Amino acid sequence: MSDSIPDLFKRLTQGLYLIGVADGEERNAFTAAWVMQVSFDPMLLALSINPEHSSFALLEKGGAFSVNVLKSDQLDLAEAYGKPGAPEDFGAPDWSAGEFGLPLRNDALAWFECKAKYIAPAGDHNLVTGEVVGGKILDADATPLTYADTGDMDGAAALFPKSFGG
Ligand SMILES: Cc1cc2nc3c(=O)[nH]c(=O)nc-3n(C[C@H](O)[C@H](O)[C@H](O)COP(=O)(O)O)c2cc1C
Repeated sequence: MSDSIPDLFKRLTQGLYLIGVADGEERNAFTAAWVMQVSFDPMLLALSINPEHSSFALLEKGGAFSVNVLKSDQLDLAEAYGKPGAPEDFGAPDWSAGEFGLPLRNDALAWFECKAKYIAPAGDHNLVTGEVVGGKILDADATPLTYADTGDMDGAAALFPKSFGG
C-alpha cells in the first residue's frame, strides 16, 4: 500500500461538482471537489478556488456561484469542465440560468445557488463562503460522483509537497 501524501489526501471523502459563475451575460463553469457545508443558520457552503482560474474573476464580479452536484455516470462532464477549453455554451438544453444568471446544469443530481459572503486567501487557493439562497434535487435516486472516482484527472499528485513540513 502506498503512503504518499497524494494517496493520503485521497482518503478525504469529497464529492464532485460543476461550479457555475456569472457576471451579466458572461458565464463559466468549472469542476471542483473542494466544496463543503459550513453553517446551518444561515445556510452556508464553502468553496476553495484557485484565484488564477478565469472563473474566480467572474465569481468576484458577479458575487455568486452555483454548485451543480454530478452523478456517478458524469465523469465525462467532470473532465470537460476540469481543464482549459471547456464548452462555453451555457444555453438550453443542457443549462438554465438561475438567480444572478448562474449556470444551472439540467442533468445534474441537484444544484444550489449561493450568494458569496466572504472571500479569504487560503494558501494557494481562496476560500469563498456562500449563503445558499436556492436549490433543487433533480434526480433523487442518482448516486453522486466522488472525487476518488476521478483518479488523478486533476493532476493533483504532482502539486503536493514531497514531504510533511517540506
Ligand atoms: C477532479 C477535479 C477536481 C478539481 N477541483 C478543483 C477545486 O476544488 N478548486 C479549484 O479551484 N479547481 C479545481 N479543479 C481545477 C479546475 O476545474 C480547472 O483548473 C478549470 O480548468 C478551471 O476553469 P477556468 O480556468 O475556466 O475557471 C479541479 C479539476 C478536476 C479535474
